[in-house]
Amino acid sequence: MILIKVKNPNILNSVKDYCEQHLLHGIETVIECSAEEVESNIPQDDLCIVVTEGTLFHDHLDEDFLKSIYDLDMCQQIGSGPVYIVNNQGQMTSRYRMSTREFSKSENKMFKFLGYNKKEQAKNLLEFDRLHPRSFYYPLATSKPKQFQRKNYSNYISVANGVESLQRLINVYQDIKTITFYDISITALLFTELLIKSYNGNYRNFVEVFDKAGGRKWTTLDVDSADMYAPLSDPDIMPILEHIRNNCEVNYCIGDITRPGVVKSFSTRPTLVNLSNVFEYSHNFIRREEKSLWYNSLPVNVDVLS
Ligand SMILES: C[S@@+](CC[C@H](N)C(=O)[O-])C[C@H]1O[C@@H](n2cnc3c(N)ncnc32)[C@H](O)[C@@H]1O
Repeated sequence: MILIKVKNPNILNSVKDYCEQHLLHGIETVIECSAEEVESNIPQDDLCIVVTEGTLFHDHLDEDFLKSIYDLDMCQQIGSGPVYIVNNQGQMTSRYRMSTREFSKSENKMFKFLGYNKKEQAKNLLEFDRLHPRSFYYPLATSKPKQFQRKNYSNYISVANGVESLQRLINVYQDIKTITFYDISITALLFTELLIKSYNGNYRNFVEVFDKAGGRKWTTLDVDSADMYAPLSDPDIMPILEHIRNNCEVNYCIGDITRPGVVKSFSTRPTLVNLSNVFEYSHNFIRREEKSLWYNSLPVNVDVLS
């Protein structure tokens, strides 16, 4: 069996990463191609599943998913659009073999395609009913800016708390070339990516649009106050944003920033890491008593804002 991953040209990086990490499968042969190239990659004598980037499977995409398709052997193609299965395996022995059919209602419920443009992707993701219960995003900076000595950092690793994670670059952004956000919350990654790519002034409005698209459920603003948006003033981040937009490669990754694998990935370049109190939260892969081990394992060229 092969898996064909179809490129979705306008996919948000955070959405792509989130879907990728949830697309668990044990399929050995994986081909990545554009929509136009799919046809020529479909095997003539095998079973193949075609999945467009930006599809979330509720469970694993594996033999079990295929086993739950009740007439797989009798059908040459099941489904159409962003996800479908082509079965060119074995002989066409069944008298009743159909050439195509659509997914049934229950089969369709096993995955969700988030869409082809930013707006659809954000809305569908924010409304996805299986987001982790701690998928909060931070529209307000909740801790004071940290003072630190200026160095020529070219690499920035940070949790994705939007404005706060950008403001921490205020004195050092000029040399930054690569940024990697790690966050256990997909809404935080999504908000931060949209902020970096689309924010152009009027922050209050920006947050309101995000909340209307489904972010409200995941806000850390005081939803009980009469005007929850009142504290949102325009942050002074435009020069930082401009630098990032013009000069930086930015990665958005779902997952725990304290994983040893993240420390291992630090390059030999001067790196600034913004943990923003993650050791005071309980989403860490490492245990509390291992905090000093984490700090001791840092390469010399890495500075940490806690
Ligand atoms: C740690 S919170 C703290 C915000 C603020 N500095 C404060 O103290 O209230 C900021 C972001 O970190 C994320 N976060 C918390 N623990 C994390 C971890 N171990 N790995 C990755 N992200 C984490 C949260 O989802 C959130 O988006």
